[in-house]
Amino acid sequence: MEKIIFQEIDTNLEQQIIETWGSWVKDWGCLHYGDGCYSLAAVCDGKPIGFISAYPAQLPPPLQMHWDAYIDVLDVHRDFRRHGIARALLHKTEQWAKAYGYRQIRSWSSDDKSEAIPMWYALGYGVCPAVMRGVSVKKEFIGKPINGFYVSKVL
Ligand SMILES: CC(C)(COP(=O)(O)OP(=O)(O)OC[C@H]1O[C@@H](n2cnc3c(N)ncnc32)[C@H](O)[C@@H]1OP(=O)(O)O)[C@@H](O)C(=O)NCCC(=O)NCCS
Repeated sequence: MEKIIFQEIDTNLEQQIIETWGSWVKDWGCLHYGDGCYSLAAVCDGKPIGFISAYPAQLPPPLQMHWDAYIDVLDVHRDFRRHGIARALLHKTEQWAKAYGYRQIRSWSSDDKSEAIPMWYALGYGVCPAVMRGVSVKKEFIGKPINGFYVSKVL
């Protein structure tokens, strides 16, 4: 495999990610920028092969005074899996989040993402079954219960 480099996502990389993964990346607002946000791509031979994006997420009321880094998306292209790319994307995001001042990083996946569970365990995350609450999901899912699992790690 060509050398893999890691680059913060800019407009050009975002466009390439959308071309490779599909418009859902943009439609669902998966990439986050600005204060407290971090969006990183793994790039091989000039093309993105994996990406991650995190943003600041409050706990729902009445716990809204607590904030964590929340991983909205993590995806590695099928052709490049099991080469340590997600491990590296998560490690770099965790380092960034800790330096930013977050105490914890977390995420949630629907239960069709079962192949990710061994990864979360392998990388030191706690995994807990959780039905997504309407307040923190994409617009089209609001009000509908979605079975899945929360993961989190103290930084
Ligand atoms: C889950 C996913 C991100 C893993 O990406 P990856 O780059 O292949 O993962 P890595 O190679 O960094 O794996 C790190 C460790 O996680 C574990 N792991 C990862 N994928 C695994 C799998 N399919 N089965 C078992 N263990 C797995 C292994 O312990 C692995 O270390 P090892 O290869 O040295 O044994 C990728 O399969 C993916 O994009 N899936 C679809 C989207 C998704 O589920 N995203 C995450 C939840 S939103």
